[in-house]
Amino acid sequence: MVLLLTAALLLGGSYIPAAAEDPVDPYTQSNANAHARPFSGDAMWRAFHGADGVSRVVDGMVDRSIADNRIADIFKARDLVRLRRTLKEQFCYILNGGCDYTGRTMQSAHKDLGVQTADMGALVEHLQAAMKAERIAFPAQNRFLAKLAPMKRAVIKQ
Ligand code: HEM
Repeated sequence: MVLLLTAALLLGGSYIPAAAEDPVDPYTQSNANAHARPFSGDAMWRAFHGADGVSRVVDGMVDRSIADNRIADIFKARDLVRLRRTLKEQFCYILNGGCDYTGRTMQSAHKDLGVQTADMGALVEHLQAAMKAERIAFPAQNRFLAKLAPMKRAVIKQ
């Protein structure tokens, strides 16, 4: 440990504790973990401009969240590559874009994060800004937000 730390310091790199990079605990993959039933038809998928649009919206939301001092700490030392990937899958699944969601349940993914109601508000602000930047029609934005609203209880620290 000490050796590792010294090596990292000497090399000028930042030392990330091993725990932060550990794989997530085992879980059963299921689209039910996405915590929402998908829309039917392709209107919502088209409204979000397909896979490229969803990718931009998720990246826009995550980029804004990690740059926001109110909530940035919650994302520190987290596997953001995985987070972006599973969020894109989840959004694609809900928007009926033909993806499977491979991540954890909303409850287990957020159980140790201590997320409060105000943090949820900040994240939703960033999602709205990202959807606006993608020029997603307002009714489609609202229909999507309505799908996420019931997740609040699973995400917020009880
Ligand atoms: C409706 C709202 C939300 C949705 C749909 C959502 C969705 C997700 C998804 C899909 C994952 C990945 C699960 C996995 O990879 O197994 C995740 C993890 C995570 N979420 Fe959320 N989330 C929401 C709210 C929030 C809020 C409000 C915050 C903090 C402000 C937050 C912070 C995080 C962090 C830091 C992780 C990574 C956890 C880890 O690496 O162990 N999420 N979320």
